[in-house]
Amino acid sequence: MSIEFAVIGGTGLTEIEGLEVIHREVVHTPYGEPSGPVTHGMIEGKRIAFLARHGYTHTIPPHRVNYRANLWALKSLGVEKVVAIAAVGGITPEMQPTRLAIPDQIIDYTYGRAHTFFEDGLTHVTHIDFSHPYCAEMRTALLAAGECANLDVVPRGTYAATQGPRLETAAEIARLERDGCDLVGMTAMPEASLARELGLCYASCAVVANWAAGKDSEEITMDEIRDNLITGMANVRALLRALIC
Ligand code: HPA
Repeated sequence: MSIEFAVIGGTGLTEIEGLEVIHREVVHTPYGEPSGPVTHGMIEGKRIAFLARHGYTHTIPPHRVNYRANLWALKSLGVEKVVAIAAVGGITPEMQPTRLAIPDQIIDYTYGRAHTFFEDGLTHVTHIDFSHPYCAEMRTALLAAGECANLDVVPRGTYAATQGPRLETAAEIARLERDGCDLVGMTAMPEASLARELGLCYASCAVVANWAAGKDSEEITMDEIRDNLITGMANVRALLRALIC
């Protein structure tokens, strides 16, 4: 049975409840080790693969994730579609904590990350088209799943990918808002562009964990993020179940 899709789980989602685990597979890649073994499982009668982006014990910070190895590993297992779950900060008013959003654009503010497969031993230089960074087919499926599960899902949003691991200053968030960003997170890049380089159909479900810096309280606390992610990730699980049915 071929794998229906893969899920890359972010902060707050290191496993999928209801996933009947078949086996865990250690995959070695030319780019080093992925964040952990790939979990193969069945949910609602469908085969899926799962990988915890920050490791199963959540110890790999965003700038240290081996994005190339993670995506290469999934591709090498025959995966064609990827749903990336990502905790984010909300910048614009509709991006309230615990809400889900299916972003449609990205601005990349990261630096120093291994961000391409196309650099060594080339016979020609490759420039992928990245006008629309997320796969339309997977975005449509996620939005349909949201409707089917009666979830409050924001159907668009520009995702600011920041370097982390620190959160942003209030002035940085004000600048991101002026740039047109709705959400801020630390992992969409280079994950999305590497997926495109491999020809994977990749889209993301963002889970708002907090109001971004300067948008609400004086300080963002880890307790607040944790509490909002508990509710947000329950919504993600409902979305994933609806995606499968
Ligand atoms: N900024 C960046 N990444 C995040 C945030 C944030 O406020 N919350 C969760 N991930």
